[in-house]
Amino acid sequence: MKIAISSDHGGNNLRREIMDLLSELGLDYVDFGPDSDASVDYPDYAVPVAHGVAKGEFDKGILICGTGIGMSIAANKVKGIRCALVHDVFSAKATRGHNDSNVLAMGERVIGPGLAREIVTAWLDTSFEGGRHERRIAKLTELEDESR
Ligand code: RB5
Repeated sequence: MKIAISSDHGGNNLRREIMDLLSELGLDYVDFGPDSDASVDYPDYAVPVAHGVAKGEFDKGILICGTGIGMSIAANKVKGIRCALVHDVFSAKATRGHNDSNVLAMGERVIGPGLAREIVTAWLDTSFEGGRHERRIAKLTELEDESR
């Protein structure tokens, strides 16, 4: 599995923590930055990750900002992206099983590193359940086409 990860300045610490986790899990990832703690604009860091996932260059993406909200809104503007903003383990599993989310967003100012690690592990470990959820995702995809 190949993962793309980025943050804004509000998510730098948690991004480093999650990159450590991905290394510990032996997972292949590419860090899209930022390289410093200077203030940056979250769309500039969300969109390259979202494009990489949408194009199939990465299997999944992880985005972190202060709240996770800006990153998730930006990622969900990209066709083919189902980005879930998650701050609990139950939702991490549910959004993989039901929504087949391909990008995970979290807020460094919302949760601590221990919970974030559990969320990422659960999210990566959970498979899409298919079945009735396929139909619902097809409706989301139709909606994307309609709005362009
Ligand atoms: C940056 O101050 C903050 O607005 C950003 O990290 C994020 O929370 C936006 O949604």
